[in-house]
Amino acid sequence: MSAVLQPSVAADRKTFYEKIDKASVTPLWEVLHGIITPPPHTPCLPHLWKWDQMWPWIQEAGRLITAKEAERRVLVLENPGLRGRSSITHSLYAGLQLILPGEVAPAHRHSQSALRFILLGKGAYTAVDGEKVTMNVGDFVITPSWTFHDHGNPSGDPMVWLDGLDVPLVELLDAQFMEKSSLEAQRTHLTEGDNLAQFGNTMKPVEYKAKSRTSPLFWYPYERTREALRTMQRGHDPHACWGHKLQYTNPVTGASAMPTIGTFMQLLPKGFRGKEYRSTDSTVYSAVEGGGRCRIGSETLIFGPRDVFVCPSWMPHRLEADEETVLFSFSDRPVQQALDLWREAF
Ligand SMILES: [Fe+2]
Repeated sequence: MSAVLQPSVAADRKTFYEKIDKASVTPLWEVLHGIITPPPHTPCLPHLWKWDQMWPWIQEAGRLITAKEAERRVLVLENPGLRGRSSITHSLYAGLQLILPGEVAPAHRHSQSALRFILLGKGAYTAVDGEKVTMNVGDFVITPSWTFHDHGNPSGDPMVWLDGLDVPLVELLDAQFMEKSSLEAQRTHLTEGDNLAQFGNTMKPVEYKAKSRTSPLFWYPYERTREALRTMQRGHDPHACWGHKLQYTNPVTGASAMPTIGTFMQLLPKGFRGKEYRSTDSTVYSAVEGGGRCRIGSETLIFGPRDVFVCPSWMPHRLEADEETVLFSFSDRPVQQALDLWREAF
């Protein structure tokens, strides 16, 4: 309320507010314009985390604490506008997880859904519900809500991946549960590749019945994604805003691979100069190949392989690439779409 008030009216109102405040009641008109805003008003800020800065700190964390002791040895990427809240956007969490040769990150499960996007290394595994998958750079792996998962690294090299979880969203809903397994590493009774064979070939077992909204396919190897983008590029013009962009889907339903997190991979052709774009889903990007710029507000985020950056809700931005560039991204888009809230403009 900005109008100049008679002192007596102002005093009466103040007395009234103080009286009702004692009973946990507050006048809407004092806060209305801050909570129902004409455009989205997010505390999330544009930000870039450079791999070259993060990698020495990840290695230092590796010397300071074991994966077993930490349970998960992760450096959380906290949005500068959301410090102390373990959030990279208002609704999502992200971190860089390290697993060193010979280590095991013990089995547990939780309500929060998680994605792993592999940045560095070869030969470490994630086990989900009795099946192991050996991960490579650019692979996208899902650990669905309430499924036991553990990670191990029998290779000779460190592995680092980007974790993306719906932690803040689940916290908002007060729906979080977590349980540790009695086994450090779960028994894997399925052949590696079983899941991809069943659901990764545009087919499904005839007796399959979905147990959740999460994709029954939990491993999307980069090799296949990259080949799809390569083929797309040969036969189609790039979109003016996002180049060639694919969404990871649940192969059975065609919906988003995860119910709370939308995941995407896009190719920006060499010399790409994207048109301005904005959408209501604050989006986290990580480059796999190439490099370029994200021009957002007065800032230019210059990114290369393994860097991570954020574009907040409804902020116009443009993507540019001087060389052929492949970008992974994730956001809360499926949640907004399910609630009829999602918008985009370009
Ligand atoms: Fe976990």
